[in-house]
Amino acid sequence: MASGQKIPAKMTAIAISEPGGPRVLKPETRDVPMPGPGEILIRVRAAGVNRPDVQQRKGAYPPPPGASDLPGLEASGEVAALGDEISRWRIGDRVCALTPGGGYAEYVKVHAGSVLPLPAGFTHTEAAAVPENYFTVWHNVFERGGLKRGETLLVHGGSSGIGTTAIQLASAFGAYVITTAGSKEKCDACLKLGADRAINYREEDFVAAVKDATAGKGANVILDMVGGDYIARNYEAAAIEGRIVQIASQSGAVASADFSKIMVKRLTHTGSTLRPRTVEFKAAIAAALEAQVWPLLGTRKVAPVMDMIYPLTDAWRAHERMEEGEHIGKIVLDVA
Ligand SMILES: NC(=O)c1ccc[n+]([C@@H]2O[C@H](COP(=O)([O-])OP(=O)(O)OC[C@H]3O[C@@H](n4cnc5c(N)ncnc54)[C@H](OP(=O)(O)O)[C@@H]3O)[C@@H](O)[C@H]2O)c1
Repeated sequence: MASGQKIPAKMTAIAISEPGGPRVLKPETRDVPMPGPGEILIRVRAAGVNRPDVQQRKGAYPPPPGASDLPGLEASGEVAALGDEISRWRIGDRVCALTPGGGYAEYVKVHAGSVLPLPAGFTHTEAAAVPENYFTVWHNVFERGGLKRGETLLVHGGSSGIGTTAIQLASAFGAYVITTAGSKEKCDACLKLGADRAINYREEDFVAAVKDATAGKGANVILDMVGGDYIARNYEAAAIEGRIVQIASQSGAVASADFSKIMVKRLTHTGSTLRPRTVEFKAAIAAALEAQVWPLLGTRKVAPVMDMIYPLTDAWRAHERMEEGEHIGKIVLDVA
């Protein structure tokens, strides 16, 4: 292992002391992880907070085998040490990374294929807000959903970290973007980000609104994190040959739907979860993002929407904010 400045043996990390509410997130002293072959150690400067962290804290989303038990799916910072077989990265490089866990800490080890340079001009807190959402949206909207220029994307949860990313990327790549969100303030934020139509789902039926906005055709791709009764309604809102991509089921994973719509409209209903995928799969997404999205981040054509930044030791407050549901965009932990 190669390292620059002396790396301490111990670090502060935020652990899940037991499954439960935000206050179970507690600072602990842990060993600094050692990078193995193909891995690098990052001195974390900022860590992104994501809804799956909340699920993990509650005990509903256990880390995959081999991953850290600490929460945190993304981080930014400087390369502090290199495992064997690393050619691209050097000690001190400013990077951001998708992590399989362990981002809520002063140091995290990651596979080199999940690491990207800081987008040009980005602060660490901004860069930490990028990986989880950009990897997820890239794969699910563009690769799995096959969204093309001129097509219509319907994205539910438009003001979420995922939603704000999907709106900006789909719009930047020439799609017509329709989104749903739960308040006027959230809808206005989505429109500012480039959505062509924002539907307040508490006041309007999204199926009727999507039909209205597309001259009756429906959406070519639907990115859904809601599930429940949205499953049947997505089939209604989809266009002929539409692709519905499920990335969560916050309203329930069991639903009743008219499946004849799949045949009649020749729909594809698919979905995925990012965290358990292989390092090779994640490296392929990282390469696509660096080629096609990093230039857009560098010119701020797309950028993470920053909601709130909390110190690492106040991670519980970040989770409280996320669960209150008032946030728009990303919540980040500062690990200075
Ligand atoms: N499959 C994957 O690989 C993957 C990866 C990352 C994240 N995810 C999932 O993607 C979702 C967004 O993640 P995030 O970190 O961006 O979370 P987030 O910012 O907390 O967003 C959650 C969003 O869900 C919406 N929502 C929740 N319940 C709803 C309901 N009953 N009806 C309509 N909208 C509802 C909220 O919208 P309103 O406030 O407008 O109601 C909010 O915008 C989460 O469910 C997360 O688990 C999946």
